Amino acid sequence: MNISDDDNNFSYRILFERVFDPIALYRIDGGRIVFEDVNPAYERVMKVSRDEVTGLTFDEVWPDSEPRWQQVITECLAQNRTMHCIGESVDTDSYLEAVAFPIPPGRAAVIFLDRTRLKKSDEALRKRQRQLQALAAKLTITEEATRRAIASDLHDRVGYELVNHLTILRSINSSGIAGEFRAKIQELMTITERIIAENRSLIFELSPPVLKEAGLTPALEELAENILTPAGVHWQIITKGNPDDLEADDSVCVILYRSARELLINAVKHSGASEVSIIINTKPELLTVAVEDNGKGFGVSDSEDGSAEGNGFGLFSVRERLRALGGELRIVSEPNKGAMLIMSCPRKLKYGEFTQ
Ligand SMILES: Nc1ncnc2c1ncn2[C@@H]1O[C@H](COP(=O)(O)OP(=O)(O)O)[C@@H](O)[C@H]1O
Ligand SMILES: [Mg+2]
Repeated sequence: MNISDDDNNFSYRILFERVFDPIALYRIDGGRIVFEDVNPAYERVMKVSRDEVTGLTFDEVWPDSEPRWQQVITECLAQNRTMHCIGESVDTDSYLEAVAFPIPPGRAAVIFLDRTRLKKSDEALRKRQRQLQALAAKLTITEEATRRAIASDLHDRVGYELVNHLTILRSINSSGIAGEFRAKIQELMTITERIIAENRSLIFELSPPVLKEAGLTPALEELAENILTPAGVHWQIITKGNPDDLEADDSVCVILYRSARELLINAVKHSGASEVSIIINTKPELLTVAVEDNGKGFGVSDSEDGSAEGNGFGLFSVRERLRALGGELRIVSEPNKGAMLIMSCPRKLKYGEFTQ
């Protein structure tokens, strides 16, 4: 069946009239964009009438509109291909996407899609994401504070009482008791010494005092000694930048320390590396801790945030916690070429961002 031009025009007309989204038809006249036609949806949404706008220039109908809406039309006509743009529209108080396609000869039809709800849900999602990042960072900081509090109670209260206990046992032991009692007392002394040693290592595991007392570099050294050395991995710490810049907020040190722990454990668990370098770089604004290994490396996906392959929670949580402080995690790795994971974070947090 042959379709005549008249039939075609009729079909276009039906489409133009019935479609629920606003469409306007433009041509260029003397370098200016002129309205040729608008559909009923355009009249309804833009609150103008077809008779009113036909023959007027874009500027005459929308004197305050953003330049992007005219640009998309001129580019579509100049390049004779479909173009699109998206943004706020002051005239309609909404967030619009415009798709402009050329209609020969020399005209452009633009369909306006209302993306306000999409934009709002996108914003709400981003806000939730920021809140979750902040929550993750706060959790780490609170966890560290709680660990420190428990460790100091174990040290000051339990540890103190245990030492008292041992002193008493020692004095009984040296008071001249004999036989079965003496053996029992000595057994109790050995047990108490063991509990004291256990308590010490528990305190250490809970909250290594070195981070608070000596700072990030010695704390990372100790971490490497505890994680890498027993796994037979050679390691070194390299510091770059001005040592004066090493001073950072407590929260920043805690997050970097806990995150470095995850990276070192990953190096042992996943990389099969024989060498690991921890590179601490200090700049006036930024503190960077990188963990580099010579292991088997891994693929970094093409996803927007460059997150690592796999569904592990470790790198995800490192990244989110750093982001909450305004920092980031970058991963440079290729299979069989080792991996370099670079954490960077502002040294000082903005006032009120996280209470120490
Ligand atoms: N240093 C590394 N070398 C090789 N692969 C790594 C390294 N670090 C992480 N990976 C890979 O990235 C994945 C995600 O790590 P992570 O998020 O910490 O989760 P998990 O350790 O629980 O698997 C790991 O399963 C591993 O495949
Ligand atoms: Mg891990």
